Order: sequence, then C-alpha cells, then structure tokens
Amino acid sequence: MASGKLQSKEIRLVSRPQGEPALENFALATVELPDLEPGQVLVRNAFFSIDPYMRGRMNEGQSYVPPFALGKVLDGAAVGQVVQSRDAAFPVSAWVQSLCGWRDYFVAPGQQLRLIDATQAPPSAYLGVLGSTGLTAWVGLREIARIRENETIFISGGAGAVGSVACQLARQSGCRVISSAGSSSKVAFLKNQLQVDHAFNYREADPVEELRKAASEGLHVYFDNTAGPQLEAALASMRNRGRLVMCGAISGYNKPVQGPRNLALTIVRRLRIEGFIVVDHLHRMAEFLAEAIPAVRAGKLLHQETAVQGIENAPQAFISMLRSGDAHIGKLVIRL
Ligand SMILES: NC(=O)c1ccc[n+]([C@@H]2O[C@H](COP(=O)([O-])OP(=O)(O)OC[C@H]3O[C@@H](n4cnc5c(N)ncnc54)[C@H](OP(=O)(O)O)[C@@H]3O)[C@@H](O)[C@H]2O)c1
Repeated sequence: MASGKLQSKEIRLVSRPQGEPALENFALATVELPDLEPGQVLVRNAFFSIDPYMRGRMNEGQSYVPPFALGKVLDGAAVGQVVQSRDAAFPVSAWVQSLCGWRDYFVAPGQQLRLIDATQAPPSAYLGVLGSTGLTAWVGLREIARIRENETIFISGGAGAVGSVACQLARQSGCRVISSAGSSSKVAFLKNQLQVDHAFNYREADPVEELRKAASEGLHVYFDNTAGPQLEAALASMRNRGRLVMCGAISGYNKPVQGPRNLALTIVRRLRIEGFIVVDHLHRMAEFLAEAIPAVRAGKLLHQETAVQGIENAPQAFISMLRSGDAHIGKLVIRL
C-alpha cells in the first residue's frame, strides 16, 4: 500500500436535524489518510454501531457527551482490523475496537484502541451483546435495579439491542419477564427466541391493560428504554418499594414527549427511580465479559444483530432505528 494515498469514505453531519433526522442532514465524503507516525495504527473498519444516543449528539448544546460538529465525520463504536501498524501492541490483522465509526478506514494512536478476541465471538458481537450494549443491560439490572430471583420485571423496547440482552439476563436471574416491542415479528422474537413470560405490541395493545393482566400482583422492577406512555403504564403497575431503572427515553428523542401524569405514585408506593449512563461503568467491562463471553459461546446468551450493508446506507439505517417498526431486531450495525 502506498503510504498517505489510501482514501477512506466517511459520513458527516452537515446540518442539525429538527425533529426526525432526514437524509439531507448527512453527507458522504472521501478523505485521504495520512502516513503513520510512530505509535499510530491504520485500521479498516468491518462494522460500526448505530445508537439512539447519537440523536442527542446531533442537537446543539452540551449533554453528557459533546455534540457532533457540523461538517465533520460522525463517531461511535466500531470494530475493525489493523492494516498497518507503528505500535507493537497492535500487530497487522489484530481485531480492535475503537470510537472511530461512520468511516471505512482511520489512523489513530494505538492507545485509543482496545484489542478484542475474535476467536471467542464474531467481531460485531463486541458492538452488541459483548460491548457497551450488553454492559448497559447488565449494569442496569445488577447495579441499578438489583434484581432478585422470583421478581417480576417489565422491560420496554425488549427486541432492541439493550432490551434483548436485558430480557435474557433477567430470565437467567430467575425473574418473571414481561416485555414490549413495536411489531408482531418483534413480539414473536420476544416469545420464541428470548422466551419471555409475556410479550405485547405496545402500539396495538394498551400497556396499562397488558401489565394489569400479566402482573396482577404488580411489578418489582421496570427497565425503561422508551419513557412516554409505557413509563406511565409501568408506574401504574408498580408494587410498593418497586424500582424504576431509567436507561433510555427513545420515544422523546425526535420530539418532546409528555412526562408521566402519575408521577405522584412514587410517593404513595415508595418507589425508587434511578437513571444511569453506561460510560460511568466501563471499569466493569472485564468483569462483565468474564461472564458474558462463556455464556455467548455456550449458546446461553443470544447475540442477535441486524447488519445493514454499506456505509452509504448508514444515515437511512439511523433514521429507521429511531422509528418504531421492523427495521431491525437486536443490535443494529453497519457492515463494511
Ligand atoms: N443509559 C445508557 O447508558 C444507555 C446505553 C445504551 C442505550 N441506552 C438507551 O436504551 C434504549 C435502547 O437503545 P438500543 O441501542 O438498544 O436501541 P434499539 O432498542 O436497538 O433501537 C431503538 C428502538 O426503539 C424503539 N422505538 C422507536 N421509537 C419509539 C417510540 N416512540 N416508543 C417506543 N419505542 C420506540 C424501536 O423499537 P420498537 O419497534 O419495538 O418500537 C427501535 O427499534 C434507548 O433509549 C437508548 O438511548 C441507554
């Protein structure tokens, strides 16, 4: 390969979405990559992650992560292989994880990369069940909800990346799992593949009625991926001293959503509501992987993903992910 002449395609944010993102908010660009400096590595991405939190970063204003800059390449989790290296810790053809998604190739210092063991699981699993997605479900259930055997838990967004791992981990901890999703094929996935105890389509059925039917004695835990009407329904079904884990609020990412009208139930029922951000728990990754890798290898933890082919299709995949429906089940990734 002629140094400095390799070109890479990348997706840039060129305008900030108002409400639902549109294809015009994104642009595909080609850049020339620099020669490697000592300590740097050239990586060819194989997969990158498409995540709901990226919508928040497309808005102006500071959140827990800085906003994406206009006219610049987007970023996010990616896995790929080393093509050229000036860091002995990252030999050619090693698999690495980075935060340099939304592009084909990149040059970065080795210390910004993490080696992954692609002999243990498919590399893309490190973006899903074995990545921060899996860790989010694990931390939310273990650290925030502190689930116990025989408890009844409701997990909204159960057929998505975080939700599908949370459903499996909760079942394996001996909980009774109720989950929801936005299409009949997702509900079938929840019932047949994840084997939850009760699943319903929140767009067709009334979540309040479904929870009343499926958890007549009330919920010990609600794992919230959506906020909106499902949060309100969960609040109405909580037992005394129940716990609500605020993981995500996707129903309000493109447009503001009404707060729950029954929040005062937290007082009457002595509820605990706690939010968390997975980046505060990354130091637990090794501990999580020590459990999750053997479980994936043994077929006890399903790695469910939907891979969309081609960097040029990433903006549409992102737009579709923020909608309800059949666009993806499990973790959404772009395959390059
Ligand atoms: N706290 C953290 O550190 C952390 C980390 C990762 C993710 N999260 C949050 O966890 C949630 C799930 O993330 P993910 O990566 O696993 O994404 P995902 O569930 O794989 O994909 C998003 C899903 O959200 C659902 N959705 C879209 N609009 C909705 C609406 N109006 N009401 C209800 N559901 C809607 C859709 O599924 P349906 O077809 O079933 O509606 C869609 O497939 C998100 O809220 C995300 O922000 C939090």
